[in-house]
Amino acid sequence: MNKREQIVDWLNDAYAMERALQVTLEKQANSAEAHRAIRERAAIHLDETRAHAERVGECLEMLGSSRSTIKTAASQVLETGKKYMTMFARDERVKDYLAATGAEHFEVACYKALIAAAHAAGEERIIPLLTQNLHEDAATARWMDDNIEAVIRDYLNEAANRPAAA
Ligand SMILES: [Fe+2]
Ligand SMILES: [Fe+2]
Repeated sequence: MNKREQIVDWLNDAYAMERALQVTLEKQANSAEAHRAIRERAAIHLDETRAHAERVGECLEMLGSSRSTIKTAASQVLETGKKYMTMFARDERVKDYLAATGAEHFEVACYKALIAAAHAAGEERIIPLLTQNLHEDAATARWMDDNIEAVIRDYLNEAANRPAAA
């Protein structure tokens, strides 16, 4: 596999990742369970995430590939992580939030890796598109980090006021 083929492979992973996150964000943006601030932020990032998938598709086209060979590996990793974290339904909202925070950090790492690969392979023309995605995912990851405290505080207060389960 030459350098360009490897990048194409990773771009396909990134494409699958963005499409999978779109589903997660749609759920979060429409969830009655989630807080209004989280719903609003999810709606904003849902639009960004759609654009991310489009940009990754553009990168693939620039490298002479198409987005037809969609891989599911990356999305499966994300889903597997979530499976372990949502085993207890009661605090599912918290677990979903942590999984979503982890997913944004994972995206940041993926785009950093893709940018490094593009440099190494002399495919610099795709870097501006990747950098745009990187910045928006990094901003979202930061926002989610900053709100973990509030999410936990709210959850614990609500849980303390709820009657104990049998
Ligand atoms: Fe993204
Ligand atoms: Fe993202």
